[in-house]
Amino acid sequence: MNRPVIENSASAAAAPRRSPPSANSVFDMSLLRRDFPILQTQVRGKPLVYLDNAATSQKPNAVIAAITRYYSHQNANIHRGVYKLSAEATTAYENAREKIARFIDAPAAEEIVFVRGCTEGINLVAHSWGLGNLRAGDEILLSGMEHHSNIVPWQLAAERTGAKIIPVPFKQNGELDMGRLAELLSSRTRIVAITHISNALGTINPIQQITAMAHEHGALVLVDAAQSVPHMAISAKRIGCDFMAFSGHKMFGPTGIGAVWARKSLWDAMPPYQSGGDMIRTVTFEKSTWNQVPHKFEAGTPDICGAIALGAAVDYLTAVGMENIESAEQDLLAYAQQKLLSIDGLSIVGTAAQKAAVVSFTMKGIHPHDIGTIVDEEGVAIRTGHHCCQPVMDFYGIPATARASLAFYNTREDIDRLAAALEKVKEVFA
Ligand code: ALA
Repeated sequence: MNRPVIENSASAAAAPRRSPPSANSVFDMSLLRRDFPILQTQVRGKPLVYLDNAATSQKPNAVIAAITRYYSHQNANIHRGVYKLSAEATTAYENAREKIARFIDAPAAEEIVFVRGCTEGINLVAHSWGLGNLRAGDEILLSGMEHHSNIVPWQLAAERTGAKIIPVPFKQNGELDMGRLAELLSSRTRIVAITHISNALGTINPIQQITAMAHEHGALVLVDAAQSVPHMAISAKRIGCDFMAFSGHKMFGPTGIGAVWARKSLWDAMPPYQSGGDMIRTVTFEKSTWNQVPHKFEAGTPDICGAIALGAAVDYLTAVGMENIESAEQDLLAYAQQKLLSIDGLSIVGTAAQKAAVVSFTMKGIHPHDIGTIVDEEGVAIRTGHHCCQPVMDFYGIPATARASLAFYNTREDIDRLAAALEKVKEVFA
C-alpha cells in the first residue's frame, strides 16, 4: 500500500499550511489521491473516476482510521460516565467541536451544535428559531437556487406562523439578481436563508455582501454552507451571518454528522428542537429546565464517532490547506469547462463569473439519465437529475442536468475520461 501523503490526525493537525500551488509549486495535489482507498478501486472493470463530490465526498485513510480507532479503543457514552473511557470519549468529542469551530473561524466552540447534516441543521433553525420568532406578515427571503433542504423547512415554518416565503430570482447565467434582492429586502424581512454555493449551478454567492444588506434591514441570515465549507477557507466571523449549517460527509468526513453554528445569544434565546437525555438540567413531572448551549440542542446519544471522525477530516483538510484546495479546484474547473465545451451539442448550465468546481450540463437530444448511465459503463460516476433543486430546473425549463462536481483529488485525467465517455454517449445516440 502507498504511504499516506497526509498522515492522520495528530501530525496533520500540527502541520503548517502549505502555500497555494503555483506554476512553480512542487506539491502535486493529485498525489493526495493515494490517501483515499476508494479512488484506487475499479468500477465495471475500469479505474473509478469519481465526479459526484457535491453529493458526497470520499474519505481519506485518516478518517477511516479515526472510525476504527474509536470503536476499537474509545467507545463509551459521553457526558455521563465517571469512568476513564467515558471521560476520554467525552474529551475526544468536545475536541472535535473545537476543531470544527476553528475550521470555520467561529467565535466559540460552544456555538457549534452537532446535527446529522446540513438538512437537520436548517430544520433545527427553521423549527426552533422560526416557530418562536416568525409571525403573520413576516417575510422569509430565499434565493431561487436553493436546495430543497433550504426551502421545505421554511415552508413548514411559514405554514405554521403565517409568514410568507419570497424567492429572490437569479439570472440566466446563474448569478443571484442582487438588484432584486435589494428591492425585496424590507422591514418585513425576518430572515434571509441562502446557499453560499449552489450545488446545481456552482454559483458562489457574494455572501458577505448579502449578509450586510440583510442586516441593514434588521433581518437575520442563515447560510447553507454545505458546498462551500469543503472547498474554500470559511470564516463565520468575516461573513458576519447569524446561522451556518454544513454536512460532514461532503467534507471528507462520515455520513450522519454535520454542524450548525449560531451566535450564543441566538442559541440561548431559542427553545430546544428535540428533547430527551443530555439536553436537560433538571426534570420533574411538572417541569424541566434546559442544559447550557450546545448540549441544549443535542438530545440523546449523539453520533460520537461521527463527530470525532469529522474532526479527523478537518485535521486532514487543514494540513492540505483550504487555499491550496480552492486553487487546485479552480484550475480543474477551468480545464473541465473548456474540455466539455469542445463537445458538440453540450451546454453548461450555470456560468456565473464566481463559480465553484461544479459543472452542470445538458447534451442536445439526450436525456441526462442516459448520459449518467452510459458514462457509468466507463467507470465514471456523475450525478444526473434535478439535484434537489426543482425550482432551478423549472427556471431553465429542463427536467434535469448531468453534473460533474470536483474535489481536490480529481485530476485532468479524470476530466479526460469523462470527456471520452461523453463521446461514447454521442456515438450511442448518433
Ligand atoms: N445535495 C447533494 C447534491 O447536490 C445531495 O447532490
